[in-house]
Amino acid sequence: MIPVNEPLIGQAEIDNVVDALRSGWISSAGTYLGQFEREFAAYCGRRHGIAVTNGTAALQLAVSCLDLEPSAEIIMPSFTIISCALAVIYNGAVPVLVDADADTWCMDVSQIEAKVTSRTRAIMPVHIYGHPVDMDAVRTVAQRHGLAVIEDAAEAHGAEYRGGKCGGFGDISCFSFYANKIVTTGEGGMLLTDDDAVAAAARSRRNLCFGSEQRFVHEDFGDNFRMTNVQAALGVGQLERIEATVARKRQVAAAYSAGLAGLPLRMPVEREWAKSVYWMFGVVLDDSVPFDADGFGRRLAERGVQTRSFFTGMHRQPVLLDQGFFGCESYPVTDRLAERGLYLPSGQAITDEQVAAVIAAIRDALEERT
Ligand SMILES: Cc1ncc(COP(=O)(O)O)c(C=O)c1O
Repeated sequence: MIPVNEPLIGQAEIDNVVDALRSGWISSAGTYLGQFEREFAAYCGRRHGIAVTNGTAALQLAVSCLDLEPSAEIIMPSFTIISCALAVIYNGAVPVLVDADADTWCMDVSQIEAKVTSRTRAIMPVHIYGHPVDMDAVRTVAQRHGLAVIEDAAEAHGAEYRGGKCGGFGDISCFSFYANKIVTTGEGGMLLTDDDAVAAAARSRRNLCFGSEQRFVHEDFGDNFRMTNVQAALGVGQLERIEATVARKRQVAAAYSAGLAGLPLRMPVEREWAKSVYWMFGVVLDDSVPFDADGFGRRLAERGVQTRSFFTGMHRQPVLLDQGFFGCESYPVTDRLAERGLYLPSGQAITDEQVAAVIAAIRDALEERT
C-alpha cells in the first residue's frame, strides 16, 4: 500500500533529538524550544513564537487571547477541521460559517461580510491543503468592522500570499506540527504574533498561568499546552530544510497535475497571488463519474493506494448540531467537496515511482465506470 503520508526524518533531526535527550532537558525547558520558537517566527516574519502541544491547542489558546465576551461570534469556514470550531466553542464563543470557494477550497471570502453582526469579534481564515486564503479580502472586512484575524496556517508552512509567508497575516497565527505537516515535531503547534501583550498572555496561559512572584498563586485560567524540548529539537532540524520540502511538494503536485490531466476530476488551483505548498494533493470527482469519493477511495485501496477523504463540513457534525449550532444552514460547495473529494499520497517520503503508480491506479480506477 502506498501510504497517504510518510514523514521524512533526516540525520539533523535525529542528532538534535539525541542531543536533547542526552542534555536531560526533556520537558518544556531547554535551548531547542527557544531556538525553534525564534527561528520559526523569523521564518514567517513574526516577532513572537509560542510553541504548544498541537495545532488544536494553538487555536484554542489564540481564541482565548481575544478575551471574548460570551456569545461573541467568530466567522470561519464550513470546510475545515473541527479544531477550528472547538477552539471557538471552548472559549464560550459562537462559530459562524461561510461556504468554501469551489476552486481554492478555502473560505469564500465574498461571503464573509454578510455574516458580520454586532456580536462578531474575529475572522478565522484557514489555508486549506496548502493554498492561501485571499487575505487582503479578509483584512479589508476585518478592518472595516474592527475584527481580529486568527489565521490557521496549520497546512500551509512556507506557502505565500502576495509574496508574504502564510502565518504572517493574522493578529495571531496558528500552526500544527503533526507528523503529516510540512514541518513536524511529531505532535506540536505554535502561535505567532507581533503583539507583545498577546505573546505574554499566550506564554502564561500555555503554562497554567503560574504566578510571577509566588509560583503556585494563580490569577488567571491557564492550561498545560507546553511543547517539549525533545519535540522542538526535531522541529529545529525539520525547519533547516523547509525550502527543500516545499520544493519537493510542488514537484509532486506538478507530476500529479501532468499525469492526471484530461481525467474527469478537478485538481488544486494556484491563484496568481498565491504560492501553494500543496500540503496534500486533493482531487474532486466530476459529476460524470458514477461513484463518490468513498467508492473512489475503495477502488484505489484495491489498487494499493491509500487516500484520505476530504473534511466533512462543520454544519454536518452531529456533536455541533446537538449543541444547537448551524440549524438548517446549507453549505453546498462544502457538501460537494466532502462527497467527491479525497487526497492522494503526498507525504515527504513519497518517491517518483510511487507518484507514477498512484497516477496509473487512478487512470485504471476511473475506467471502471460502474
Ligand atoms: C487546518 C487545520 N487546523 C488545525 C489542525 C489541528 O492541528 P493538530 O492536529 O496538531 O491538533 C489541523 C490538523 O491537521 C488542520 O489541518
